[in-house]
Amino acid sequence: MTETEPMLGVCYYPEHWPEREWASDAAAMLETGIGMVRIGEFAWSRIEPEPGRLEWGWLDRAIATLGAAGLAVVLGTPTATPPKWLVDREPGILPVGADGRVRGFGSRRHTSFSSKVWWQESRRIVTVLAARYGENAHVAGWQIDNEFGCHDTVLSYGPEDLEGFRQWLATRYGSIAALNRAWGSVFWSAELRDFDEVCLPNGAVTETAPAARLDFQRFASEQVVAYAAMQEEILRAHSPGRFVTHNFMGRFFDFDHFTMGRLLDFASWDSYPLGFTEQFPFAPDERADFIETAHPDMAAFHHDLYRAVGGGRFWIMEQQPGPVNWAPFNPVPKPGMVRLWTWEAFAHGAELVSYFRWRQCPFGQEQMHAGLHRPDRSRSAGGEEVLRVAAERKQVGTLPAASRAPVALVFDYESVWITRIQPQGADFDQYEICYRWYEAARRLGQDVDIVPPGASLAGYRAVLVPGLPYLSDAALRAFAATDAAMLIGPRSGSKSQTFAITDGLAAMLPVRVTQVASLRPGLAHPVSGGLTGAAIRWREWVETSGTPLACFADGSAAAVEAGARLYLAGWPDAALLADAMRHVLARAGLETIDLPAGVRLRRRGGLLFAFNYGPDSWAPPSPPKGALLLGGTPVAPQDFACWRLPG
Ligand code: GAL
Repeated sequence: MTETEPMLGVCYYPEHWPEREWASDAAAMLETGIGMVRIGEFAWSRIEPEPGRLEWGWLDRAIATLGAAGLAVVLGTPTATPPKWLVDREPGILPVGADGRVRGFGSRRHTSFSSKVWWQESRRIVTVLAARYGENAHVAGWQIDNEFGCHDTVLSYGPEDLEGFRQWLATRYGSIAALNRAWGSVFWSAELRDFDEVCLPNGAVTETAPAARLDFQRFASEQVVAYAAMQEEILRAHSPGRFVTHNFMGRFFDFDHFTMGRLLDFASWDSYPLGFTEQFPFAPDERADFIETAHPDMAAFHHDLYRAVGGGRFWIMEQQPGPVNWAPFNPVPKPGMVRLWTWEAFAHGAELVSYFRWRQCPFGQEQMHAGLHRPDRSRSAGGEEVLRVAAERKQVGTLPAASRAPVALVFDYESVWITRIQPQGADFDQYEICYRWYEAARRLGQDVDIVPPGASLAGYRAVLVPGLPYLSDAALRAFAATDAAMLIGPRSGSKSQTFAITDGLAAMLPVRVTQVASLRPGLAHPVSGGLTGAAIRWREWVETSGTPLACFADGSAAAVEAGARLYLAGWPDAALLADAMRHVLARAGLETIDLPAGVRLRRRGGLLFAFNYGPDSWAPPSPPKGALLLGGTPVAPQDFACWRLPG
């Protein structure tokens, strides 16, 4: 990534407001310090009200009005919301749920990625849109579709999905005998004689073969990426010099985002920290501490993930501006949080933060969702905070390029799928363990880069591998090439590429897992020795020629050290994890600081930020050397400080 001016944007729906108000809205955006406006991503029924009748006039005028005011326009392709006439004419485009029922018209994302007609229709609408606006002077770039996979729409179980899956399998395996071997089909007499006999993994009496389900997820993931690539190609052909991005979601892992990221100029993601905190399985007391601020790693984890997905570059396309409408409960953020979230995104490398949405919409499904303005056009509390951010941007000026963090955390989409398909304990969640390891490193003051397995680890002092059930050759090569201190988590190397038990871990460590147990809530297996705490949720028994650094009460190793690598034979509770993290970071020669539960640090080039999500003011134990650019010390709750470090 490079140095950037911190830019602000907003999501706007001209089709929701009288045309006579567009110009004053645009002028007000400029006054708010906003330079980019995203439009169009749900506007198909207005662009093409009837088959083939294209109504460009309103969109021409909307783009012209916004552009004339000085705003850069990001156009969304409208494929998240095909109109009713299309669904009626081509009902085969509708997705089918795992329950076998067609998911109908009336909301959004009512399409299957396997439908050939849907691909044709998508190509058609994207082509006419790109041809019309591809070289429009006001159009700076494109958002492909909107939040792929939202509302559980990556997997679909209709006839064309089945046909596509069969073809994908035939290409992957070549012969049905190879598929039978890979899926272990001899188990329960599931052997097939031909690819035509393959079924989708829904609707069976009980669990279908895990290898089949993993392949179905891989197939679906590849389809989503291919669909995005189809749109990307059209946009690039018609819109030279413009960027192409997609707005990914938080807490969403149903397709491989790293692969899609390679198509894009940069990744974007939609940051709703309070909504995600509501959804995350926090313990009630922990949730209560952060219910109106969000958990302090919630946005940050995703910033670091999407920086990697975007090859070093990312935007926030939708930033929560107040309460949302879609979480189980929808609190109002504490005063200061919209500003804090914005600066935190910049601190993690975001080039632009765009708020969802300009004005709360008084009708429709999201009428309870805040905007920067209320339906009556008055500024909301979030809108006031954005004004403050806009003023502060000038104080900071250009933000330096983010340097490589000292710590890498390996995150893998397939690992999430594998442990979802076979959790073996109801609360084993691969994303959650990654999140907790990320949190533990950041509680000790570290910056963390999130990287896909197989990425070069050159330059990292510590590498965290919370768990990679399938250890690919590429991942093993990257691990072999680093001398960083490593912390490796349970279940690593436990599955082959075709979802069979394997001792893949042996390729990394002299550790053999002989038995595993999931531990129900309330059950903990204490650990003592060089590290203390307990295993919760998951515990392993291991044989090893490495050095047991800590043991369970029965004498079996809980943490095994082999050279610079430390293996944890269980899901560490907070105490054990903090101890292990400290141990590994010390071994890496990294300086640590004990931060309160609500405080996080983040460096961007020569800038140091401290963000306070907690209830108490925080004074750095030794004041950072350097000029204070924003905020003050102690750092007040819901506030932050930014220093320019010397050198
Ligand atoms: C996002 C979506 C937006 C809007 C928003 C509400 O997931 O992209 O269209 O629905 O959530 O928070």
